[in-house]
Amino acid sequence: MQIEFDGKVALIVGAAQGIGFATANELRNSGAKVAVADINGEAAHAAADRLDGDDSQKLGVQADISSLESVEAMIQTVTDRLGAPDIVVVSAALLDDKLFLDSGPKDWKRIIDVCLYGPLNVMHAVLPGMVERKFGRIICMASDSARVGQARLSYYAAAKGGVIALIKSVAQEVGPDGVTLNVVSPGATDTELRQAREKQTKEAIGEERYAARTKKVLRMYPARRIGLPEDHANMITYLASDQASWVTGQVLSVNGGFVMP
Ligand SMILES: NC(=O)c1ccc[n+]([C@@H]2O[C@H](COP(=O)([O-])OP(=O)(O)OC[C@H]3O[C@@H](n4cnc5c(N)ncnc54)[C@H](O)[C@@H]3O)[C@@H](O)[C@H]2O)c1
Repeated sequence: MQIEFDGKVALIVGAAQGIGFATANELRNSGAKVAVADINGEAAHAAADRLDGDDSQKLGVQADISSLESVEAMIQTVTDRLGAPDIVVVSAALLDDKLFLDSGPKDWKRIIDVCLYGPLNVMHAVLPGMVERKFGRIICMASDSARVGQARLSYYAAAKGGVIALIKSVAQEVGPDGVTLNVVSPGATDTELRQAREKQTKEAIGEERYAARTKKVLRMYPARRIGLPEDHANMITYLASDQASWVTGQVLSVNGGFVMP
């Protein structure tokens, strides 16, 4: 199967690093014009510079997905510079490693603003144009923590569970208009997000216990390895393609077999 985007416009939010950047790179290499958006504007521009192509094919843009105003400004910039987005990937997220009983409303709000309001804002801003043009692909990143639960990540998992319900519901509304929406649900993947969390854990429990814990974690993955950003970029590229026009409202776990819900 040959996937070619042939000048379609892809907007990847949360793409300065990690899974978002790997996806931006893959979509650009498959012929899409790519906008790299991130709350860290400098990093977004630097990431866009690292992609192949010239300024007519790629763009870095600052945006905070927790703000609808910022999201609308981002869509306008992308539309003016590259064209209206045909493919939108929401990869931006924050983590908060805390027991639920140690957390409070401020912690919940911070995570839910980015991880649930973020996708709501982006989808609300891009869907009218997609429906009008009778084509669109939206892919949001969730987490296996939303499918099976995860201690110390309760409100993050709750936000991701909300994204799954949102995508399934809206997929039913806009299916007749040629727009598909799907969720990719990663297992543990070696990105900056995970590295920061692992560093904290190592500091908290010490080298020896950390090494034992790492072995135990790997045993839970039938593929016996942690994911790579590219594992997700490949799945997202398929979901964004014309070939995936009959796949909508689905949650695809890309997780080395960690859970098989
Ligand atoms: N890495 C993993 O193990 C893992 C596991 C399960 C789910 N996920 C999910 O996959 C997605 C990508 O994860 P990753 O590991 O590549 O993350 P990452 O932290 O490496 O990258 C996320 C990017 O989002 C940006 N961002 C944060 N808040 C933002 C905001 N308000 N507006 C715009 N950009 C913002 C960050 O600056 C960063 O560049 C996330 O949705 C995450 O929840 C990751």
